[in-house]
Amino acid sequence: MKNLLLIVLGLVIITSGVVFALNNKNDKTKITEGANMNNKVLVAYFSATGTTKQVAQNLSSAINADIYEIKPKVPYTKEDLNWMDKNSRSTVEMKDYSSRPEMVEDNFSTDNYDTIFLGFPIWWYIAPTIVNTFLERYDLANKKIILFATSGGSGFGKTVENLKKSVSSSTEIIQGELFNNNPSKDELKKWAQSVL
Ligand SMILES: Cc1cc2nc3c(=O)[nH]c(=O)nc-3n(C[C@H](O)[C@H](O)[C@H](O)COP(=O)(O)O)c2cc1C
Repeated sequence: MKNLLLIVLGLVIITSGVVFALNNKNDKTKITEGANMNNKVLVAYFSATGTTKQVAQNLSSAINADIYEIKPKVPYTKEDLNWMDKNSRSTVEMKDYSSRPEMVEDNFSTDNYDTIFLGFPIWWYIAPTIVNTFLERYDLANKKIILFATSGGSGFGKTVENLKKSVSSSTEIIQGELFNNNPSKDELKKWAQSVL
């Protein structure tokens, strides 16, 4: 009887040890995932006709990150976006690298974020200048900015070079991906994990 009691007691101790170890392992996994994927990561985007918006929304949902839309104070009309018209608003703005289209005023702050996924359409081979307005509005020192874009086929061209002019030297800007085929949330999550 005494031996049986000792065996049962032994089994109870071993089982609780295993359960404790497993719980501890799960907790660590959660903390690591949280630090990489959930905490302090923002998806910010500008989109004139909705293509980049769709990618940004899927990305933020895939990695459980906050999302912020860069909204122009004066929305772009169809005529404004006519790149074949030399006098359209977008052509005039994009010819002048120093143009800074105004953003809607709000109380948003980037202070809580260490990493920003920044999305936009390619306009005339670079980011629309309202993206420079966004970068110049906040103190982004020591933050990491990972770019993503949609386009009619062009690559990033001199996008990074041009955006670097709008941040301090301690801000890291990484040329990310062009997403012209509306990737799935799974694909976006894998990509985000690979660059974080
Ligand atoms: C003013 C303007 C300029 C553009 N310039 C380019 C370009 O240089 N190269 C390119 O491949 N696509 C260009 N496009 C196409 C857009 O990059 C593409 O349609 C993008 O997916 C639109 O994204 P959005 O719906 O988020 O605004 C341009 C579109 C506009 C309106």
